[in-house]
Amino acid sequence: MSRTAPASPLAPEWLGVPEDLDALDPRIWPPAFRRDDHGVLTVGGIPVPELAERYGTPSYIYSEDTFRARAREFRTAFTEAFARIGAEVSVYYAGKSFLTTEVVRWVREEGLNVDTASGGELAVALRGGMEPERIALHGNNKSAAEITRALDHGLGRIVVDSLAEIELVAHLARTLGVVAPVMVRVTPGVHASTHEFIATAHEDQKFGLSLAVPQDGGDSPAMQAVAACTVDPDLELRGIHCHIGSQIFDADGFGVAAERVLAFMAGAGARLGTALPELDLGGGYGIAYTEADTPRPAREIAEALAERVASAAGRLGIAVPHLSIEPGRAISGPAACTLYTVGTLKTVEVEPGLRRRYVSVDGGMSDNARPVLYGADYTAVLADRRAGGGPVLSRVVGKHCESGDIVVRDVYLPEDLAPGDVLAVPATGAYCWALSSNYNWIPRPPVVAVRAAGARPAARLIVRGETEEDLFARDLGA
Ligand code: LLP
Repeated sequence: MSRTAPASPLAPEWLGVPEDLDALDPRIWPPAFRRDDHGVLTVGGIPVPELAERYGTPSYIYSEDTFRARAREFRTAFTEAFARIGAEVSVYYAGKSFLTTEVVRWVREEGLNVDTASGGELAVALRGGMEPERIALHGNNKSAAEITRALDHGLGRIVVDSLAEIELVAHLARTLGVVAPVMVRVTPGVHASTHEFIATAHEDQKFGLSLAVPQDGGDSPAMQAVAACTVDPDLELRGIHCHIGSQIFDADGFGVAAERVLAFMAGAGARLGTALPELDLGGGYGIAYTEADTPRPAREIAEALAERVASAAGRLGIAVPHLSIEPGRAISGPAACTLYTVGTLKTVEVEPGLRRRYVSVDGGMSDNARPVLYGADYTAVLADRRAGGGPVLSRVVGKHCESGDIVVRDVYLPEDLAPGDVLAVPATGAYCWALSSNYNWIPRPPVVAVRAAGARPAARLIVRGETEEDLFARDLGA
C-alpha cells in the first residue's frame, strides 16, 4: 500500500495505491513491455506512440517473443517434469483463446500442437500450416460437416463429447473408409474455483460424459462411451480427456481431476481389457490480470501434477499414461496489450466527498467483452508519456451505448491524464480479439505483432482492422 496517498474507500480492497504510477508490475507485464528513458511504454523496443500512430487505436499489440516464450515455457516445464516420471507430454495450444494463421506458425515452430473448437478454427490451423496429425477437434455439438472435415484431413484426434457423437463419428468414418482417432471427454466432477461460465467439469453443464454411476446402477456415461469406442472398428480410442475450467490458480484442482480420471482409466482398462494410453487434462492455467492474481509458474504446476499422477498410477497399478495439456490463456494472454486513446473525462461524486473519475476510451466491450461477460478485472497504465500528479481512482469505460461498457473497473491513473493520451491495458491476448464484436457497428481493431528477438525490432499487422466497407460488404439492403 502507498506511502504517497490514502486508498479511496470506493476502491476494492485488493487495489493498492501505486507509489509510482509509471511502474509496470512484473507479474502482469512480461519483460517485452517496458518503459524507455523518457518514461514511454515500449513493446519489444518499439515506443507505443509510434505503434498508435502507425496502426491507430484501439489496437491489439502482441509481443511475438512473449507468446513464443510462454509456449516454450509450458512445453519445457511439462516435458521435463513428466520425463522424470517416465512419461511423454504433448502440448496443444488452445486456439480459442487467440488464433490467426500467423499464430499457428508460432505455435508450430515452438513444437506445440493446436486444439481447435470449431470448423472455423480448424480451417485456420490448416491454413496456417499445422500438420493435421498435430490438430485436435473439440466441441459439444460438432456438425457432421466439421467431423467430416476433420476425418478428411486426417486430424490427430477428435475429442468426442457424447454417446450420440460417438455414433456419428463412427458412421462418418465408415462412410469415408477411415479409422477415426478419438478421445472421450469426461467430467470428473471437480468444481474449479472460477467464474461459473468458465468452470466446465462439474456435472450440471453441457460438456462431456459423467464419471458418476447412475442411481439405478449400470455403467457411468463415460464407461458406456469407452465401451462403445472400444468395440467399434471405425474408431481408435486414444484415451480420456477432461477440462476443469479456466483461469485457475490452484494446481490442486488439476491434481484431483487427474486422480479421478486415472482411477476411471484403471477401471475401464480392467473392465474392457484395453489400456488407455493417453490422459488429456485440458487447459485452464490462470494468468495475472491485476495485482490480485497470483498464478504459479508452469514449472511448479507441472512438477506438482507429475508427482500426483505418478503416485496415483502407482496406487492403481497402471502405467503412467502419455499426458496432454491444452493451455490457451496462459500462452496468449500475457503476450498482448490493447492501446486506447483517451477521450472524455468526467468526475462524479459517488458519495459526499468520494469521487470517481470516468475515463472514456475509443474502444470498449466490442474489443474486450470479458469485463461485461465475467466481471473480469483489468488494469491500465498511461503509455505515451510519464505520469504527472498523484493517483486518481478511475474507471476506464468504452464508447458503447451501455453503462456496463467497462474496460477497467478500478485503477489509479495519473491526475494529469488528458484527452489524446494513450492508455495500455495489459493481458488482453486471450479471449479479447477472439470474443470481439461489431456492436454499435464499430469495426474490429487490427492485431499487430512485434518481434524484437534476433533482429531489429519490427512491428507488422497480422490481422488488419476492419473498415466500414468491410461491414457494409455484408449488408445487402438498399
Ligand atoms: N481445452 C478445452 C477443452 C477448453 O474448453 C478450453 C477453454 C481450453 C482448453 C483452454 O483454456 P485456457 O487455458 O485458455 O483457460 N472466454 C473465457 C474462457 C473460456 C474457456 C473455454 N475453454 C474467458 O475469457 O475467460
